[in-house]
Amino acid sequence: MNIFVTGCTGYIGSHTCVELLNAGYNVIGLDNFSNSKREVLDKIKQITNKKIKFYEGDMLDESILDKIMNENNIDVVVDFAAYKAVGDSVVKPISYYINNVSSVLTLIKVMQKHNVKKLIFSSSATVYGKQDIMPITEEMPIGNTTNPYGTSKLFVEHILNDLSIADPEFKIIVFRYFNPVGAHPSGLIGENPNGIPANLMPFIAKVATKELECLSVFGDDYDTLDGTGVRDYIHIVDLAKAHLNGINKLNNMNEGGLLVYNLGTGKGYSVLEMIKTFEKVNNVTINYKIAPRRSGDIDTCYADSSKASKELGWTASLNLEDMCKDAYNFVINNK
Ligand code: WQD
Repeated sequence: MNIFVTGCTGYIGSHTCVELLNAGYNVIGLDNFSNSKREVLDKIKQITNKKIKFYEGDMLDESILDKIMNENNIDVVVDFAAYKAVGDSVVKPISYYINNVSSVLTLIKVMQKHNVKKLIFSSSATVYGKQDIMPITEEMPIGNTTNPYGTSKLFVEHILNDLSIADPEFKIIVFRYFNPVGAHPSGLIGENPNGIPANLMPFIAKVATKELECLSVFGDDYDTLDGTGVRDYIHIVDLAKAHLNGINKLNNMNEGGLLVYNLGTGKGYSVLEMIKTFEKVNNVTINYKIAPRRSGDIDTCYADSSKASKELGWTASLNLEDMCKDAYNFVINNK
């Protein structure tokens, strides 16, 4: 089977390509390297001893998508290609809507032209906005997003819902990722954001290697156990493997439709718990200070992923210690 992966050299895309290749799928990949590096292709080959059939280009370019669909008999599309920095999206909303929303419209148009009607879309827990009840289930309301990144994912979910009604042949899975962290245990691929990391784990990892001096803990007055923000961190390899379950589900669906699944562990950990775990498993000291809250942050967010377990046969198996160990292993191998 031929799987077309957009954003194939990105953080989630690259780890998913590894699992797809290891599972015996043929992978056709597209990336414009706007937030990744070409060398990831070689790292994926080193890990799997298999190659991706790679095309360099932009999802907004209809001609490259047409070329890929003409040259390859695509069975399923897995769409990761998007900008994903929350703070950045507040500063550059239009570029987020063009890149994250218009690109999906172009993709769907070309898929319809080539009669490719199986899609996995990478959405985000951010579409839930602030929820008072935990854990979060897929039935909870979405919509009160607090930043253009989350809103762009929300817009695409609405588009896919409308598509599913208008074209019932489409089989669509929407994965709402909670907080993907960590790296492949080989240390060859991982989260390697350009510049200063916006997210907690890559920042901690760079403080551990002294590339960054001190972590700012954004607020210790939240309504949580120790006052710091609580999130559902999920190992990137667990997250990547869920896409194999998703492809199986799409192939076994007797009729079209759109299915939504949370991908998380169901456990929430605070910032201070993350710091302590990272220090313990890696035998390092993380220098941190308490800083003011970051605007747009919420107190607590963790998933109920029982629907993915029941319907996809998927559950996360790696724990916070694995996440911290693999995240650190990646940065020390890629300094
Ligand atoms: C986690 C916790 C911060 C950095 C975002 C997106 C989400 C997904 C993951 C794409 C919070 C605290 C962080 C720091 C800190 N991305 N923190 N100091 O905001 O939960 O989710 O990234 O899909 O869609 O919204 O992740 O790692 O930025 O923050 O104290 O330097 O760590 O306040 O409590 P977040 P995060």
